[in-house]
Amino acid sequence: MIGPCVFDAYGTLFDVDAAARLAAERASGADWVSQWPQLSADWRRKQLEYSWLRTVAGAHADFWQVTQDALDWALEANGLQDPGLRSDLLALYRELPPYPDVLAVLDALRAGGTELAILSNGSRDMLADAVSSAGMGNMFDAILSVDDVGAFKPAPAVYGMVGAHFGCTASEVLFVSANGWDICSGAAYGFRTIWLNRAGAPMDRLHAVPDAQAQTLHDLLPLIERL
Ligand code: LAC
Repeated sequence: MIGPCVFDAYGTLFDVDAAARLAAERASGADWVSQWPQLSADWRRKQLEYSWLRTVAGAHADFWQVTQDALDWALEANGLQDPGLRSDLLALYRELPPYPDVLAVLDALRAGGTELAILSNGSRDMLADAVSSAGMGNMFDAILSVDDVGAFKPAPAVYGMVGAHFGCTASEVLFVSANGWDICSGAAYGFRTIWLNRAGAPMDRLHAVPDAQAQTLHDLLPLIERL
């Protein structure tokens, strides 16, 4: 049996494009709806950039603050500075739906006796909202938020939270992330790693590579048996 199976949250379990997509669906007919993919991409890109920059600069703020700052940049960049739209997008971000493959695969892993955890940049209350709105409240043995270390991924202290919590070595942990830079950094830390390459993206050119790649979470179970 493998050790704990640890998942990244945003982009891996929870659909980060859903907030802008759902807001656009609700606003059907409004001028801006065709802009939602660019708005969503800008929001995510800035959210990640701000998390890295704040960690490098030693200027941590929690992920909810970073998420709002990134949204404000993205709204301005797209000419969409509307307070109503801003508050709708933020409310939707608290309840991002899981990707369609998530619940069945987590259930199967649990049924096989695998311990499951989340390791995320998300603040404790953001993760609690996402997990509970997705109906995944009983799914995880641990929900590990960077709030406890005051730095964002890929700071090694974040990956170190898993071993500290489960009392295991890095090589006993299976880490799954859809973010290329996150999975490479987890591999460099010493985790066993599967990159959930949902977008079919090229491999990041970083200092380590993951052990395996999957296109959807359904590919995970056979891959785990081979690791
Ligand atoms: C997270 C971001 C990286 O959940 O997606 O940690």
